[in-house]
Amino acid sequence: MKDLKNIRDQFPVLNQKINGYDLVYFDNGATSQKPLSVIESISNYYKASNANIHRGVHTLSRTATELFEKARKTVADHFKVKNDQQIIFTAGTTDSINLVVNGLSKNYLQKGDEIILSSYEHHSNILAWQLWAEENGGKLKVIPLLEDQSLDYSKLEELINQKTKLIAIAHVSNTLGVITDLEKIKVLAKKNNIAVLVDGAQSAPHMPVDLEKLDVDFFVCSAHKMYGPTGIGVLYLSEKWLKDLQVSKPGGGTIKTVTFEKTEYAENALRFEPGTPHIAGAIGFAAAIDFMNAVGMQTIFEHEHELVQYAQQKMSEIPEVIVYGKSNNKAGVISFNVKNNHPFDVGTLMDKYGIAVRTGHHCTQPLMQCLNIQGTVRISFAIYNTKSEVDFFIEKLKKVITMLN
Ligand SMILES: Cc1ncc(COP(=O)(O)O)c(C=O)c1O
Repeated sequence: MKDLKNIRDQFPVLNQKINGYDLVYFDNGATSQKPLSVIESISNYYKASNANIHRGVHTLSRTATELFEKARKTVADHFKVKNDQQIIFTAGTTDSINLVVNGLSKNYLQKGDEIILSSYEHHSNILAWQLWAEENGGKLKVIPLLEDQSLDYSKLEELINQKTKLIAIAHVSNTLGVITDLEKIKVLAKKNNIAVLVDGAQSAPHMPVDLEKLDVDFFVCSAHKMYGPTGIGVLYLSEKWLKDLQVSKPGGGTIKTVTFEKTEYAENALRFEPGTPHIAGAIGFAAAIDFMNAVGMQTIFEHEHELVQYAQQKMSEIPEVIVYGKSNNKAGVISFNVKNNHPFDVGTLMDKYGIAVRTGHHCTQPLMQCLNIQGTVRISFAIYNTKSEVDFFIEKLKKVITMLN
């Protein structure tokens, strides 16, 4: 059930004034705020159960291990993954992508291979592939945009050839909010035996994600955008890649046996989790997932979608405003500019009214080049945002436009 008052009360950070105004937090795409249940789960862990995990025989270590592994199960259940060993805890989306690129480069990606990305990828899903391509004579190809800034899927088939090994694509664009049609991607990928990595950094917080149905090779996301703590995220591996992905980040905990001559690595998730993991982070992440499921992922999606529709309608009535990402198939993100003004100026003035927006290229510089702009102002919603916050934002946006012009 959606009870916004009750939901907002769970986020102490929202209850403050910025520059004399009630905080309006519209920067959820960068990181969301954390409910009390998440904050308390982390605090309780350190107060009552802190110990290093796995291999400990003492009680605290066994408790911490249980909590950590229970968190893995919570994540697996949330994403409808039957084998929880397919859920690897990483430091977040960026770390997960690096783990995949470095692992694949050991035995799957060959010199001269090609990888397909979309025009709206976050730098995290470009740079590691680019580095690999530079070092191995590989090539990155890009799915272009249509007029409404959704992807031109009709061009995908032309990009595929014998050398195409992987399609790495955002589920939701962090800058435009556009939702990728993964079914279209998957049909071509399967037909041509190409692996698919889905960057779920902006889908996992905003919509139901069923990884069994999605049936891709890799899925990655970050807890801090999902009401959870920073420094922890997920790398989901299909059954095949849990076996076949090579270890690229070895260390204590990843092994079965070690001699000075040779190491046999573990066959489960631990194979990819070197060193002491972010135990408190995993526990906080599980609490964040419990929070999202108590509200309901479909409820979260519908609420944010409604806010997007509402805000976009109001923004379309302001002649000085240009909105990017016109497709109707969007999650809770709107990017815009005020004609003839720098996004930074708009953002700075909005902050004077306690409204937190993000400005700049949003780590999507290639997209900015496609759109032929320097940057945008981005507002991005979470379940605790309200229509009255949108009204306040629109009122102040009009005021800012008058001040700037
Ligand atoms: C689509 C997308 N991919 C990757 C990232 C990187 O996430 P993180 O900084 O949590 O690793 C972000 C963060 O904004 C994102 O929006």
